[in-house]
Amino acid sequence: MDISELANDMTDQIYKTGTPITEGIDAYLESNQDKSLLRFITCGSVNDGKSTLIGRLLYDSNIVFQDQLTQLEADSKKFGTQGQNIDFALLVDGLSAERDQGITIDVAYRFFATQKRKFIVADSPGHEQYTRNMVSGASTAQLAVIVIDARKGILEQSRRHSYLCHLLGIRNIVLAVNKMDLVGYDQDVFEAIVADYTKFATIVGISEHTAIPISGLRGDNIVGCSDSMVWYSGLSLLAHLETFELDHHLEVSQDFRMPVQWVNCPSSEFCGFSGRVASGTIEPGDEVRILPSGKISKVDRIVTFDGELNTASAGQSVTLTLKEEVDCSRGQIITAAAAPLEVADQFEITLIWMDDRALIPGRSYHLKIGTQTVSASVAEPKYKLNINTLGHMATKTLELNEIGVTNLTTDKSIPFAPYAENCTLGGFILIDKMTNATVGAGLINFALRRAQNIHWQQIDITRDHRAQLKKQQPIVLWMTGLSGSGKSTIANAVESKLTQVNRHTFLLDGDNVRHGLNKDLGFTEADRIENIRRVGEVAKLMTDAGLIVITAFISPFRSEREMVRNMMVDGEFIEVFIDAPLSAVEKRDVKGLYAKARAGQLANFTGIDSPYEAPENPEIRIDTTQTTIDEAAQVIFETILKFGN
Ligand code: ADX
Repeated sequence: MDISELANDMTDQIYKTGTPITEGIDAYLESNQDKSLLRFITCGSVNDGKSTLIGRLLYDSNIVFQDQLTQLEADSKKFGTQGQNIDFALLVDGLSAERDQGITIDVAYRFFATQKRKFIVADSPGHEQYTRNMVSGASTAQLAVIVIDARKGILEQSRRHSYLCHLLGIRNIVLAVNKMDLVGYDQDVFEAIVADYTKFATIVGISEHTAIPISGLRGDNIVGCSDSMVWYSGLSLLAHLETFELDHHLEVSQDFRMPVQWVNCPSSEFCGFSGRVASGTIEPGDEVRILPSGKISKVDRIVTFDGELNTASAGQSVTLTLKEEVDCSRGQIITAAAAPLEVADQFEITLIWMDDRALIPGRSYHLKIGTQTVSASVAEPKYKLNINTLGHMATKTLELNEIGVTNLTTDKSIPFAPYAENCTLGGFILIDKMTNATVGAGLINFALRRAQNIHWQQIDITRDHRAQLKKQQPIVLWMTGLSGSGKSTIANAVESKLTQVNRHTFLLDGDNVRHGLNKDLGFTEADRIENIRRVGEVAKLMTDAGLIVITAFISPFRSEREMVRNMMVDGEFIEVFIDAPLSAVEKRDVKGLYAKARAGQLANFTGIDSPYEAPENPEIRIDTTQTTIDEAAQVIFETILKFGN
């Protein structure tokens, strides 16, 4: 972590260690500059005493938050004016209250220092629904303190958090067996918990952990050694945190990789590529390769706020200028020329699902990896983990907090490294395209080789040739609406009109396609998504053939209609919303399906027990309560003619 990041953290979570705040940040930074920094996370279940433990660490090492100080100043009658007089119980209350009021629903990062080392502790909520916060806190931590309530022993949440910490690459685990005072400081209780944990840790592959019996409330074995547990001969928690050896060497010793955060070219003489070095070191003169383009250049200068550097290594934020001008934009990765990264678009991944709504296999999500965002879809999981036994269980989806292994496909090839080699280049998040919520965190295990030997074949006759021969502009007219809204009838009428003026068309209709190409699909969310994906691909091939394609599918989800729009050449997708209220289509009930659905004889029926997401900005909207079939067909026909047809 560099000093600017440190300063940022301090502005948010500033504190002081006995030094009056008035002495200023500069003095503070200077006094701590040479100390090593340990980032750690505390995790465990609700009510296992995390807040008390953190409060104790801060309190016993004479740490006072600035915000606590401000509070004290305002309330000096109660506390006096000196931070050192702060009441321990109040400090802890403050920490828990923040959580309860939702202030630290996200991870709370607290900064403190001792004579030997400085620390950033990520305090993550223990509630099941906040796994995502625990994951984000753990992703930057070097050590995890798993807090266990001695009365309860190892719980499912302790196992889940341990597993996640290990998965995210934390190799230093401290098992803090808390509330020892409430079990009479009994050595046997401690030993039994340690034995239980060791069994679990061995299966996970956690090769080393340090167990410490503590009482956050009473301060036993937190800063100094406890008189109540003379049977324990190890270090106190703080002594362990201060002295255990930090391993920075791995990332530095690897090949050079830097994801480009932004490109700054203010003049023709200066073009800088800025980012944080994810691994390795770099010097002026080194040959680099830009991925995914594969272009090669040489580093000219390494520029920082504090002047130019002769070398930069993992963890440093720098701006590189290159000798030969090459195209390089945000999201691309600058790598050592002789050791480029693999580039792929299909992967096996481990996925941690973090949304209330289950994963929908086949749906397209935003995938953010490093500084790059692409579209990606996840296949049906190969299995999910039973977090207690770590056994593999068959599943079709992942629910909140579940962890599974599955395949993932991206719409573009991306440079990456397996997470086990580099967490920046192998760790990603999935974001719902409609709600923008982060729904999953994933780790790339490896790239699938199946696409590697398939290359795009160049053909002489292009889509333009084919369209010109037909003297028309290919488009997709995508009709969407409830069952019985009139999609097929209108589509049929539009096709007739087009044929009469010698246009070459093809009509893809839901009921018909489900008799052949898609006869293996039903009406679950996942099947409907696959239905639309296949139809989208077929429609795309048909536009390549120069055809005007008309489709009539309920296509109830915005996400998938958007996905098909993005598959097509810009401007060649026309969404037509056949808008009929449920009450009207239900009254017509041409196929008798609404009656069946209402009678409970047909499950997942759109509009009844399966959702329909109406288009927000369709190119054409037909209100079937106001328009006849013929009028609707005429409006659509005329719109098509405007598209150069
Ligand atoms: S979509 O949702 O996947 O786009 P699609 O348009 O292919 O659906 O198929 C819809 C047609 O299948 C309906 O017009 C109706 O005749 C029939 N159908 C049978 N079961 C259902 C169901 N559960 N929900 C909707 N349509 C159904």
